[in-house]
Amino acid sequence: MTKIVILTGAGVSAESGLGTFRDKGGLWSRYDLNEVATPEGFARNPALVHEFYNARRRNCLESAPNAAHHALARLEKDYPGEVLIVTQNVDDLHERAGSRAVWHMHGALSGALCAACGHRWAAPVEMQAAAPCPACAAPATRPDIVWFGEMPYHMEAIWDALRAADLFVAIGTSGNVYPAAAFAQDAARAGAETLELNLEPSDTVSDFDAARHGPASRIVPEWVAEMLARP
Ligand code: APR
Repeated sequence: MTKIVILTGAGVSAESGLGTFRDKGGLWSRYDLNEVATPEGFARNPALVHEFYNARRRNCLESAPNAAHHALARLEKDYPGEVLIVTQNVDDLHERAGSRAVWHMHGALSGALCAACGHRWAAPVEMQAAAPCPACAAPATRPDIVWFGEMPYHMEAIWDALRAADLFVAIGTSGNVYPAAAFAQDAARAGAETLELNLEPSDTVSDFDAARHGPASRIVPEWVAEMLARP
């Protein structure tokens, strides 16, 4: 049974209107990531952090999956093998396109977490710093997002999946942030074929056996059609 592991980044959601991080005009050119995407930033100014994620949660609600998300959902449904999406994205566009095997290694905008007791619940669209945790009532609610300096989620399971993969495909990611930036090497070391699908060559393009460049909404459906046409 062929196993495909797909890593997605902000580029797969760019054409749905969600900003990327490091492109021109990207989120990190407009916000200081140390203020809005680190535990220290949250401790200093939780209201600013909630404002940043409330805006991204609203933006996500107003967006829709694009042809790349839909093609990946089609691949999972119709491909005679296993398809797993490991996403760095915190939006729910893969799920809204119909993908079911989706692991959010950087967390999700749809989740809330209590910094005091670890309780998790479905995030409201607007989160407030002083809102009490539904479980312990502490005013310590935070977005269930993995910030810089924190351990991404599902890592042991992800490394197991990379070791078992026949094909690893990275879509819409710049290859700037570890551990995801090393996944192509991890998969290749275990014998997988590796492919990059990105608007332009990423910083780790040399780690891949093959690469195709162009907008995800065009090159991902093209690739999926080829995969589904294989005998
Ligand atoms: N189609 C395909 N790729 C695209 C498109 C598009 N329409 N638009 C942009 N890209 C590519 C860019 O060329 C770039 O390589 O998507 C990539 C986006 O890179 P980043 O902005 O660095 O986003 P990402 O790789 O997901 O960042 C990884 O960094 O800040 C943290 O936690 C954050 O999950 C994020 C992680």
